[in-house]
Amino acid sequence: MNNTISGKTGILGIIGWPVEHSLSPLMQNEALRQAGLDLAYVPFPVHPDRLAEAVRGLRALGVCGFNVTVPHKSAVIPYLDELTPEAELCGAVNTVRRDGDRLIGHNTDGIGLLRSLADDLGFDPAGRSVLVLGAGGAARGAVLSLCAAGVSRVIVANRTSRPGAELASLASTRFPRVEARAISLDMVSIKPLLGQVDLLLNTTSVGMGGTSFAGLDLSLLRSAALVYDMVYAPLQTPLLVEAKRHGLCCANGLGMLAGQGEAAFSFWTGRIPLPGLMKGCLNGYIEATTA
Ligand code: ATR
Repeated sequence: MNNTISGKTGILGIIGWPVEHSLSPLMQNEALRQAGLDLAYVPFPVHPDRLAEAVRGLRALGVCGFNVTVPHKSAVIPYLDELTPEAELCGAVNTVRRDGDRLIGHNTDGIGLLRSLADDLGFDPAGRSVLVLGAGGAARGAVLSLCAAGVSRVIVANRTSRPGAELASLASTRFPRVEARAISLDMVSIKPLLGQVDLLLNTTSVGMGGTSFAGLDLSLLRSAALVYDMVYAPLQTPLLVEAKRHGLCCANGLGMLAGQGEAAFSFWTGRIPLPGLMKGCLNGYIEATTA
């Protein structure tokens, strides 16, 4: 945190409901401090009924930018002046920058995921086959970003059929060259496909607090297949413990959280934060608080 707030200090922040759990203030303030920038990043709890009012207020107060988290990522769009191609593609905004009087909505979640997949697992999406667990907001951003990055095949496995079918259909429409299909998130449907995918990606909340997918048998994955869990609390989710038990390369979602934060920082400031600083900050905090 910038300790010397003056009349010139610029404000960044995050809107969400709830927002207390967010780790963004921690890593963003550390990156701002290390970069010597006269900016402070603060949390703004914004009830869904007051979103329009809040964005008008942020605009009037002249904040430099803000992150947007659940449940406002899509709802915020009508109150912005422009979207980047990434935000347009995902139909969701997680980062807003003020340019003069204009608010520009961007989405750095996909950038963060692709960066983490490359840095943490050495994954290059071109021509790859991916099995995505879940079909909610996080899955949508992930699937569309992976399609844009050149995967050849996406299988969306979801507990309920409609969101999975809609996401697979959206991916096929936007990316006709990608083979996209939906299946049910159960072992009978998943089993025959496990041996065909290069990456298994969990976008659901399963894994938080140590919950797990019943009966998911990772021994059926190829030995070179990778496993990525967007969940990062606990750092070692049951899915990752299982992947390690089978000798598979795997990573949790901490790299994605840091990656989206780094891309947001660059979108606001035009600067690149110190490599590894945000992830180190997050790791340190989670290790200290879950020990
Ligand atoms: P987010 O924005 O984090 O993706 P979301 O849009 O509410 O959150 O989506 C949550 C996703 O996790 C959905 O795919 C949901 O499955 P349903 O569409 O069937 O509800 C999935 N999910 C949540 N809890 C789950 C559980 N216990 N088992 C399997 N899938 C689960």
